[in-house]
Amino acid sequence: MSQLIVENLSIHYSKGVKALDNVSLAVNKGECVGIVGESGSGKSTLAKVLVGLQPYKVGHITFEGSQIVPKKKESLREYRRQVQMVFQDANSTLNPKLPIWRSVLEPLDNFKEVQPLFINREEASRKELAMSLLEMVGLETHLLERFPGELSGGQKQRVSIARALSLEPGLLICDEPTASLDVTVQKQILQLLKELQEKTEMTILFISHDIRAVTFLCNHLIVLKDGLVVDRFRLEDLYLSNRHEYTKALIKAASF
Ligand SMILES: Nc1ncnc2c1ncn2[C@@H]1O[C@H](COP(=O)(O)OP(=O)(O)O)[C@@H](O)[C@H]1O
Ligand SMILES: [Mg+2]
Repeated sequence: MSQLIVENLSIHYSKGVKALDNVSLAVNKGECVGIVGESGSGKSTLAKVLVGLQPYKVGHITFEGSQIVPKKKESLREYRRQVQMVFQDANSTLNPKLPIWRSVLEPLDNFKEVQPLFINREEASRKELAMSLLEMVGLETHLLERFPGELSGGQKQRVSIARALSLEPGLLICDEPTASLDVTVQKQILQLLKELQEKTEMTILFISHDIRAVTFLCNHLIVLKDGLVVDRFRLEDLYLSNRHEYTKALIKAASF
């Protein structure tokens, strides 16, 4: 059974903007699925709906067998733990006034009942817990006392990933997580996500306008154009002649 099922999801913003048009998709546990499309195709809208930041009226979302109903706040708590998001701009996630160790512990502070497998929460101090989270994403632990303004873009994105993973989500949604980073750092973050996915077997929904990034990380691809799913295929079928013309154009423009 699929872990996440989206059926006939449509989002119309005011003034007639159809951000998502009858979108259906299914994601199996442990898969890494890429959503690719140019700017304005509805990718962030889909991500926001999936993490509960954008209400929806038309369509159904089912996660691990339970329907996700936008208004039922209590029943969303477990879903909010299970489905974590990494945004393009790490600055929007990190409070500039908090040292890194406080920021990285925020999700665990909000979900006191969560006992991460990688550390014994009862025995470890808060700083030790923060330290193990930074180590998980390849950051040196001396960065704990620093503030976000004293970290590079790549380091900040690693902190955002550590925060998201601290709750051991079943599904991680990454919306353009590398788009603000320079090319070498982009590769390092993609590599980190790949390693973490292999280690934790979590599901990743990786959203990007960059088909090269998507093909590096994902084995299933979904192509969005103007709110419509125009193509979906397995990575090995990327170059098949029956790919949608729009997919072919994305491949061509990326000049692999
Ligand atoms: N809050 C909003 N209000 C009105 N229109 C929006 C809003 N957010 C996004 N849109 C529009 O919806 C479409 C899809 O946007 P978005 O989901 O951000 O696409 P992407 O992430 O692929 O660039 C665009 O036409 C955008 O202008
Ligand atoms: Mg976007």
